[in-house]
Amino acid sequence: MPNTKENILQAYYFRYACKEFDSQKKISDEDFDFILEAGRLSPSSFGFEPWKFLVVQNKELREKIKTYAWGAQRQLPTASHFVIILARKAIDTAAGSDYIINFMRNIQKLPEEIVKLKGDFYENFQKKDFDLSDDRKLFDWATKQTYIPLANMMSSAAQIGIDSCPIEGFDKAKIDEILKEENRMDSNHFGISVMVAFGYRAEDAKVPSKTRKSMQEAVEWIY
Ligand SMILES: Cc1cc2nc3c(=O)[nH]c(=O)nc-3n(C[C@H](O)[C@H](O)[C@H](O)COP(=O)(O)O)c2cc1C
Repeated sequence: MPNTKENILQAYYFRYACKEFDSQKKISDEDFDFILEAGRLSPSSFGFEPWKFLVVQNKELREKIKTYAWGAQRQLPTASHFVIILARKAIDTAAGSDYIINFMRNIQKLPEEIVKLKGDFYENFQKKDFDLSDDRKLFDWATKQTYIPLANMMSSAAQIGIDSCPIEGFDKAKIDEILKEENRMDSNHFGISVMVAFGYRAEDAKVPSKTRKSMQEAVEWIY
């Protein structure tokens, strides 16, 4: 039976940027697999999935990250699961890269003539349509895409009563460096995009009431 609109909207009201979780409550493996699956199934430009999800459960590593993550001071020590979403760098996302060619051949299982056609189309899109003309632009384009699994994971979590907090409040260069030093990220291919904490809100959590622009302010219809 399909979910009802009311149920789905209830989950959107339930979700808020949770600052502190109940550290005694752990998300079950089954539920966390469901959240990761919602991330994995997310759409991406040309279907090239320019991301990786690092699930950081190691306490010492969380502590190190905390030093440079002002936006996750209470989430890092209390979250049941803490995810760093990595984005692929230009070496992988640029047209003609080994990553893109392998992806078309081995993940998308495209026939060789389509690999060539799609590859040319992708190159044209990057150079002409979207002006993805340098490494930084390509990396930023990949990070934009990672916000789709970010949102899908948070919304799916909310639908099964799990709290989350998206996190951009951190020193990216410092945490990139930590992950590189700890051999947790191949920095030739990846950089940090955004982080997200999951768990169950602390019992005494003060949940702020939702403030949003009105529908009229947020939307303009063109007839
Ligand atoms: C990309 C992004 C980054 C965010 N970074 C942080 C953060 O570092 N720390 C934090 O506590 N909240 C962070 N937030 C939460 C926002 O402040 C919050 O979503 C917004 O105020 C709306 O409130 P609500 O999510 O509770 O409805 C972030 C949200 C987004 C979407």
